[in-house]
Amino acid sequence: MNTPTATPTRVEHQLTDKGYVPVYTTAVVEQPWSTYTETDHGTWATLFERQQQVLQGRASDEFLRNQRAMGMTPDRIPKFDDLNRILRPATGWELIGVEGLLPELTFFEHLANRRFPVTWWIRKPEQLDYLSEPDLFHDLFGHVPLLMNPVFADYMAAYGRGGVKAHGIGPEALVNLTRLYWYTVEFGLIRQPDGLRIYGSGIVSSKGESIHCLESPAPNRIGFDLERIMRTRYRIDTFQKTYFVIDSYEQLMEATQPDFTPIYASLAQQDSIPAGNVLDADAVFNKGTGEGWANDGDV
Ligand code: PHE
Ligand code: FE
Repeated sequence: MNTPTATPTRVEHQLTDKGYVPVYTTAVVEQPWSTYTETDHGTWATLFERQQQVLQGRASDEFLRNQRAMGMTPDRIPKFDDLNRILRPATGWELIGVEGLLPELTFFEHLANRRFPVTWWIRKPEQLDYLSEPDLFHDLFGHVPLLMNPVFADYMAAYGRGGVKAHGIGPEALVNLTRLYWYTVEFGLIRQPDGLRIYGSGIVSSKGESIHCLESPAPNRIGFDLERIMRTRYRIDTFQKTYFVIDSYEQLMEATQPDFTPIYASLAQQDSIPAGNVLDADAVFNKGTGEGWANDGDV
């Protein structure tokens, strides 16, 4: 999910005379658009149409509006160049093609320079519902629409600069910052006048979690609190136990303006919070029933 990771990029898609061999690289690649098969375009169409329906009344107005503005359609996998012609003049962001997850510092540097890395390949038909690594559908459909929003666009670039800084401070600071990304960019909810809505890309690209995060009584839904989030562990292989709710993208931007250096130092003295816990100080929208939760596996 374009989450910073310490592991090198594993490219599983290079055909050599020994067959497909894993190759490690971090290179930016041209989107090999003409190599997409009819199956690939069909996977895009199926996922796109399915999520379009699921997200009506569930995704934030801003997400849906910007998705229309970008002109993504179900009929073909979009070309990054076409999307860039709309995105660049709107907020200065551009999409770059990559093979998969990047080393964290590389990822941060791209974001700081308003380049959003998009995995060029799309999942296989048997992976429609779940995939453990980001693919083109997650990256494009999930992340790109909100890059059209000026405030969110600034937040993402500020996050990149903050990532470069945290990388220089140390691994614990990076853990704190990664949790912020996870609970906002990937799994964030926003409060609209007409109710809670989704803006996190990890949710909007998943049919099951789009319904679960809003309608299930199982998870906690708690008001955004920067330091609380930076202490909270999360799930990578199940739905989240807790979602954090922002009031606006401006709130997110303002709350993350302060210098995090003293915050990292203070957090280093405090324990992490298990993914499903509710604290006395939390602003609770829903206290989860915890139904279906695994007891272990928080990261
Ligand atoms: N203000 C943060 C810092 O000083 C940077 C940041 C901005 C981090 C926005 C996340 C989001 O490190
Ligand atoms: Fe992602």
